[in-house]
Amino acid sequence: MAEVPTVAAVPVAELGGLVVQDDVAQNVTPWTVEGAEVDGVKQAIDYDRLIKDFGTRRIDEEMLERFTKVTGHAPHLLLRRGIFFSHRELGVILDRHEQGKPFYLYTGRGPSRGHMHIGHMLPFLFCKWLQDVFDVPLVVQLTDDEKFLYKPELKAEQTYEYALATVREIAAIGFKPEKTFIFSDMGHMGGAFYLNVLKISRCITFSMARSSFGYTDSDHIGKIHFPCIQAAPAFCSTFPSIFGNRTDIPCLIPCGIDQDPYFRLTRDVAKPLKYKKPSLIHSQFLPALQGGTTKMSSSVDNSAIFMDDSPNKIKSKINGNAFSGGPTSLEELRKFGSNPDVDISYRYMTYFVEDDQEIADLAVSYRKGEITSGEMKARCIKVLQDFIGSFQERERAITDDDVKNFMDPDYPRHFACLAKK
Ligand code: TYM
Repeated sequence: MAEVPTVAAVPVAELGGLVVQDDVAQNVTPWTVEGAEVDGVKQAIDYDRLIKDFGTRRIDEEMLERFTKVTGHAPHLLLRRGIFFSHRELGVILDRHEQGKPFYLYTGRGPSRGHMHIGHMLPFLFCKWLQDVFDVPLVVQLTDDEKFLYKPELKAEQTYEYALATVREIAAIGFKPEKTFIFSDMGHMGGAFYLNVLKISRCITFSMARSSFGYTDSDHIGKIHFPCIQAAPAFCSTFPSIFGNRTDIPCLIPCGIDQDPYFRLTRDVAKPLKYKKPSLIHSQFLPALQGGTTKMSSSVDNSAIFMDDSPNKIKSKINGNAFSGGPTSLEELRKFGSNPDVDISYRYMTYFVEDDQEIADLAVSYRKGEITSGEMKARCIKVLQDFIGSFQERERAITDDDVKNFMDPDYPRHFACLAKK
């Protein structure tokens, strides 16, 4: 896959003709997430830069206040801690809610293995909360086709199996089939869905696709066509069993910011198709165990904590791999303290511990050197063991019938919001 040109390479600095530094810009695409490299040192992902380069809007205090006023709910921890940090036309969705007009939620997962990691949980946990707050339909796309096309080592039958396993995991988060339709592209594409894929594909030239995704002559054509398939669920006419023959209901897409290139293109094709543009709400990445210069990723086994990891595995991964913001000796610790901002164990807790005061106190004590890095790790291990342990318990209770119901387009789903115009 060629480099995607959305974030330009930093030019090589020269001094009197002598190359002094070969800096590399950060690279954030649906396939790669890497911080910049400056003086040979990898940097954390620069989210301000991403907002600028992608042309999105920051979720500021004013937006959070509006959200609270419109919904009557205090923002979810992922919103109030700035983890969901950026948006495209979130205001349109809030306006509609205020006016009693419907919208729906759309998110997805590319099942490259049978189990998600804790980073994948962020958009789903957030969707669950949004669905509870707004009581709207949620559609979840499982792009087993995408994973087959992009990962030469995977067989098509295998990615379909992974998609089915993913339904169980999504169900274990607490979604209900009465409100949520989950589909595998391999299993479901046809009818209204395929019709929209075709309509979208006629609006995207190869040149548009190449400038959005950096395709080269050696990329196979399956990859080039795939963005139409991820775009289609952003239009309500893809789901006649939920929305009837309506074409005027927009969606809100919660996702990691790496997925934004797909939806820039989707928003571009909405106008010629006379469909509503999707709105987006983007999250930052839950970092790899090794640190904040890249995201936790399924493709890099030792970067991730998976939802099927045992309590002992979680413990050994955090103790063995989690980057620490603390110094190496106790003497230095008492003198200089530690840095929670780069400490992976602390950062993981900010995603899963509800109590703001507890999180703030931990950071203060860590900076003062009152807590050791080992103690921080031990707390994080406990938080993750509890979170993953109760998830696994719920997953064990999911039946084959539950999976079938989520994936049945005709399963009865009634929404009060759809009764209104
Ligand atoms: P996938 O499977 O790579 O990721 C699924 C979702 O999880 C987010 N994500 C993360 N978020 C925080 N921290 C991380 N370390 C992390 N890793 C992944 C992704 O941004 C994504 O939101 N092509 C998509 C599947 C898809 C989709 C969608 C995603 C189809 N339609 C609509 C979002 C919205 C994919 O392969 O996602």
